[in-house]
Amino acid sequence: MSMHASIPFDPTTPAQRENPFDVLALARREEPVFFAPALGLWVVTRHEDVSTVLRDHRTFSSTGALRSSPAPHPPEVLEVLAAGFPEMPYIIELDPPLHDRIRGLVARAFTPRRIGALEPRVEEIASVLIDELALGRADIVDSFAWPLPLRVLGELFGFPERDLEQIHEWGNDWLMLQQQRPVAEQVEHARGLVALQRYCVAAVEDRRTRPTDDLLGALVTANAGAEEPLTAVEIAGLPLDLMVAGHVTVTRAIGSTLHRTFSEPALRDHLLDPELAPKAIEEVLHLESPAQGLFRVTTREVELGGARLPEGARVMAHFASANRDACAFAEADDYEPARDDIGGHLAFGKGIHFCIGAPLGRLELRVALPMLLRRLPGLRPGADPPRREAIFFARGFTSLPVEWDA
Ligand code: HEM
Repeated sequence: MSMHASIPFDPTTPAQRENPFDVLALARREEPVFFAPALGLWVVTRHEDVSTVLRDHRTFSSTGALRSSPAPHPPEVLEVLAAGFPEMPYIIELDPPLHDRIRGLVARAFTPRRIGALEPRVEEIASVLIDELALGRADIVDSFAWPLPLRVLGELFGFPERDLEQIHEWGNDWLMLQQQRPVAEQVEHARGLVALQRYCVAAVEDRRTRPTDDLLGALVTANAGAEEPLTAVEIAGLPLDLMVAGHVTVTRAIGSTLHRTFSEPALRDHLLDPELAPKAIEEVLHLESPAQGLFRVTTREVELGGARLPEGARVMAHFASANRDACAFAEADDYEPARDDIGGHLAFGKGIHFCIGAPLGRLELRVALPMLLRRLPGLRPGADPPRREAIFFARGFTSLPVEWDA
């Protein structure tokens, strides 16, 4: 490892939440794999090294990768979790072989045809949300970017709309449980996770006796015909995973894209052109990376990008940094929707954990963004300043006030 001053990486500060890119560029130049002591993370910043991490899943394991600390849960929390399904697997935290069995089932049920069939519903949901906006001004995250993907996921799984807010709350409990918090808080989050596990297991059991044509029904049916069928609990991890992974990622992408149209008028024109919109959307994902980076744990000592990582090191594969790497992209920081190197972007990851929901996420953006721009003419920043998301590995807005010509 190099001996010079470490990289002043602190994505929890307002300045770096606004602009994480300069410090990452410095890291790519000076110390491409560095240790961030405050986060206890080895941050991997170059495209080549991030790709290595994502490809070599034996060395860079996903087991326990979401936990912010290797310490076990306190006994009070374990007791609550024991009343649920502690063995429930979450695809994002799995290594092969179980990862591949679960992912194989998803591939059989979450088909391009099923995703395509959702398009009219995505249009309808988006349209209703726009109908419900007040005249001429809104917090577009609150009233559109947040509810849209949640309702789409509800539709996908056949979960009733009245349950969706609750499912979101529980999903949030699951995420919070990965963070180090006071025990009393953790106990509450554990209760939320257990409730969500029960909800999802009940939904799977229900579809075993009463088949449905939603995605969960399709998963249950495909599983029944599988050579090595999964258990109900193994299947039930999936709606839980997808409801969490497929919600705020899309919220962030919508907010970040709209925000960019305010300073990038060409983007607005491209989004309104059905030919160009998909490229414009992909390019914003490349530049903004709603998931800035995600985590792995080393299974052995390993050398990467000039650093020696010990076994058990927590690693952040920094997709956003890789996406700005001049070794992988021409004019890496500029909006270039016609770029021919777009295929290398890592906003959806790469390798065995490549985003399962990428086709659905793209569909939602392709439907929602042009519709917003068409139906809200003159869309512009509102009077109140936007608020960026605080989670350090995310990029997006929790509030984006806008105005338009009513
Ligand atoms: C623009 C929106 C989205 C972005 C930027 C995004 C980003 C990502 C990234 C970077 C990964 C890789 C994680 C890793 O390597 O550790 C991932 C995985 C995943 N995503 Fe997405 N995602 C989006 C939308 C969705 C949607 C709509 C769904 C669900 C319908 C979804 C479900 C998943 C799941 C289940 C995984 C884990 C796959 C696995 O571990 O095999 N995502 N996503």
